[in-house]
Amino acid sequence: MMATTGSNGDDSALMRKESGEGENKKGKEEEENKTKTKTKKTKEEEEEEDREMERNCEALGSIGALFGDPLPCHGDAHTPFLYKYQPGEGERTVKFRLSLPASDVDLMAHYVWEASIKMADLVLSKEIEVKGKRVLELGAGCGLPSLAATTCGAKSILCTDYPDEAILATLKGNVEKNLDEDAAQVLKVQGHAWGTPLGEEKKFDVIMLADCLWLEDQQRGLLKSIRDNLANDGVAYLTFMEHNDHVREFFPLAKEFSLDYEELASMPWGGRELEDFDLEDEEADGLVYFGKMNKVQGHQP
Ligand SMILES: C[S@@+](CC[C@H](N)C(=O)[O-])C[C@H]1O[C@@H](n2cnc3c(N)ncnc32)[C@H](O)[C@@H]1O
Repeated sequence: MMATTGSNGDDSALMRKESGEGENKKGKEEEENKTKTKTKKTKEEEEEEDREMERNCEALGSIGALFGDPLPCHGDAHTPFLYKYQPGEGERTVKFRLSLPASDVDLMAHYVWEASIKMADLVLSKEIEVKGKRVLELGAGCGLPSLAATTCGAKSILCTDYPDEAILATLKGNVEKNLDEDAAQVLKVQGHAWGTPLGEEKKFDVIMLADCLWLEDQQRGLLKSIRDNLANDGVAYLTFMEHNDHVREFFPLAKEFSLDYEELASMPWGGRELEDFDLEDEEADGLVYFGKMNKVQGHQP
């Protein structure tokens, strides 16, 4: 897999959405118009913006630098993130420019987390195969893995996050900003609170979830969403970090929902090698873990 780099930088395309009661219709229309105007940027303007973001990235040390930006999350409501993936020598670099929501709901959707960056890498490197598949993303945040799946021939992608206005508006904005009309047809954004009905009759071949395990009181709801929406022969892919002690409680709990878990890999991030992490101290939670879940066949919960 080729290394991914990213950058934080000032982005005039950012949806500067103020959430809260004071928001009125006029404000919303202005936001929509701003987004529409920004999607009409020329290729040259976009390339110049990318270069500007890359320059900022170098100034900051970028996530590729070991000590420049030691946090496993990037961007914020005023600082978008540029994701880049180089598939192979001579091949076109895949780039997504990601805005983050200013959301009232404190669910950590307002960063791009390393788990999401790794998930997108795994999709683009075909370690997660989405070609011809019906794909569902849960807790998508800014939607990076879903955007990646559009470039790899997924049949359809339902990209979901908590039904919060700011989160969903930003997700839709990221789709508009990054995909042409054809690619955007494949990807639908929808609000979905874990554990509630999704409203889709057909089940999904692939479910993706990045960095969604850390909320202890949401784990049962999340497992219900996986179980109810995964096809019997489908696979749910997870990337996650050990942000707290509850993260790994998810897997024994999964058995109650007839889901098996297999861990496939652990990965360093931010340009680090595994030996850069001192596994004896808190830095161990810096690793990103990758695993998959399958339905236990023939077992009814
Ligand atoms: C740590 S963020 C991860 C976001 C993104 N996947 C990433 O890795 O950058 C957790 C995500 O789960 C979503 N989330 C948390 N609780 C949720 C719930 N009960 N229902 C739906 N989404 C939820 C949040 O809105 C947020 O986008």
